[in-house]
Amino acid sequence: MTAATATTAGTFRPALHYAAQNTWLNDPNGLIFHEGVYHLYYQNNPMGNVWGNMSWGHATSTDLLTWTEHPVAIACDENEDIFSGSIVFDRHNTSGFGTASVAPLVAVYTSAFKPGSEHEGVQAQSLAYSLDGGYTWTKHTGNPVLNRGSAEFRDPKVIRYDGGAGSYWVMVAVEAKDFQVVLYKSEDLKTWELLSTFGPANATGGVWECPDLFQLPVDGDPENLKWVLTVNLNPGGPNNGSAGQYFVGDFDGTTFSSASTVTEGLQDPDRLGEYQWLDWGRDYYAAVSFSDAPDNRRLMIGWMNNWEYANQIPTTPWRSPMSLAREVSLQTFAGILSLVQQPAGEWTALANPESFCLPETTIHDDVQVLAGAAGTVQRIDVTFTAGSAAEFGLILRGDGQKGTRVGIRPGEGKLFVDRRESGQTDFHESFPSIDTAPVRATAGSYRLTIFVDHCSVEVFAQGGQVTMTELIFPAETSTVVSVYATGGTATISSLQVTQFA
Ligand code: FRU
Repeated sequence: MTAATATTAGTFRPALHYAAQNTWLNDPNGLIFHEGVYHLYYQNNPMGNVWGNMSWGHATSTDLLTWTEHPVAIACDENEDIFSGSIVFDRHNTSGFGTASVAPLVAVYTSAFKPGSEHEGVQAQSLAYSLDGGYTWTKHTGNPVLNRGSAEFRDPKVIRYDGGAGSYWVMVAVEAKDFQVVLYKSEDLKTWELLSTFGPANATGGVWECPDLFQLPVDGDPENLKWVLTVNLNPGGPNNGSAGQYFVGDFDGTTFSSASTVTEGLQDPDRLGEYQWLDWGRDYYAAVSFSDAPDNRRLMIGWMNNWEYANQIPTTPWRSPMSLAREVSLQTFAGILSLVQQPAGEWTALANPESFCLPETTIHDDVQVLAGAAGTVQRIDVTFTAGSAAEFGLILRGDGQKGTRVGIRPGEGKLFVDRRESGQTDFHESFPSIDTAPVRATAGSYRLTIFVDHCSVEVFAQGGQVTMTELIFPAETSTVVSVYATGGTATISSLQVTQFA
C-alpha cells in the first residue's frame, strides 16, 4: 500500500505527512535516527483530539514519508504532563541506565507538574530511558533532574558537544516568558550545570519555546563550521501567531553568540522582516532536528499548525499533521548566512511516473487552467520569469478561478500564499489570510517547488532560501491547477507536476 492510498476521503487526512490515527498532536519530540529507523515522538493527547493529557505519542518511518503509529511511548500520570523534549543515544552509557550489552536511549522531557503533585506549578526537566530501541520507556526514579523552581522552564534539546572545550552533553531549553534560551552541561544526563543564557533577542512578541542548537558547514565546506540556534515563538511570527526564528553564530562550549542579534526595539512588528525565520508561513511551529541522522544530515520536522486556531481546524477524528521532513544547510546569499531547506524524503518510490509538463508559456492578464495537471497530492516545480504583470502565480486545489493562490509580486519583492478562497476557512477568524515572505529574483526568475497534500501547501522558493508552510482545507473535488498573471505578462519558463495520488 502506498502512502496515498491510506487517504480517507473528506477527512483531510494527509498522504505524505504524519498525522495520528484518531488523536491530537502538537510538537515533534525526541526525533532520532536509531538502528536504521527514524523515530518521531510527539506531543499527543491519547484520549482526544484537542490539546490535553500531554503524553509522547510515537511513530516510525524508514523513508520519512510513510509512518507507522505505535502505542504511546511516555504517558502522563496523576503528577505530571509530559511536555516537549528530546532523545539522545547514550552510546557510552554515561547515564548508567544501560546494561552490559545494551546502551540506552535517554529521553529528556519537561515534567509539567499538576496541581496536588509534590512540585505543583513547576516545569522541570526529567528523564526516561529505553532499552529496546525506543518502543518502551521507563521513567527515571530520580526525576526531576533539573528543577529551577520555574513555571515556564521547558523544551530541553540535548546534544553531544565535542569541541575545543571538551566532550559533554549540552542542553538548550527555554525560560519561555523571559525570552531566554538557557544552556546547561552534564557528564551523565542526571546532574546539570548552568553554562550561559541567550536572549532576549530579535523576535519577542510571544513566549520562546522549543529551541535547538546544531552545527553546519558554511557553503558545504566541512572545514568551516557555524552554529545555528533555533527558537520558536508564539505568538509574534512574521505573519502572526506561531513561528520559528534562528540565529547563526558560534558556540564555544559555554556561550552562544551571534552577529545577527538585535536587542533594541524588540517588540517592534516593523522589524520582523529583518530577522531570520525558519518558515514564513502560518503553519510551521516547534520545529526541531533529528539526533544522529545519517551522513551528518540535519533533518527537521515542524508541527504543521498554529496555536491561533490549532484546536479548531476541521479535521476528524485526528487533529494536526506534521510537516515534511526537511534537510537544512547553511549558505551565503548577499553576504548573509542563511538556512536553506530541501524536502528530505525518499520521493521517487511514491511518485506516479506520468508527470505533467507545460512547455514555455507566456500569459497575459489571464487565468489558464492546466488540463491534465489536476490532483490532490502533488509536487509542482515551476519557474516564472517576470514580465509586466504586477502579480503572477498558481491557483492550487481549485476549481479554475477559486483556490489557494501561491504567487509573486515582483515589484514588492514578495512571495505570498492567499488562502482566503482555499475551501473551509470559517472555523476561525484569523485563518483566511494572505501571508507574505520576502523573495528576490535570480536573473529575473523565481523558482518554486510546492508540495500539495489533502490539507497543506509547502512552498520552497528559490531552491529553499525561503519557505512558506500553510494549512488549507479544500473540497476533495477541488483539484484544478491554474496559472495566472494580473495586469500584464509573465512567462512560465518551465512547469512540471508530479502526482502522488
Ligand atoms: C509548544 C509547547 C511547548 C510545550 C508543549 C506542550 O507548542 O507549548 O512549549 O512543551 O507545547 O504541549
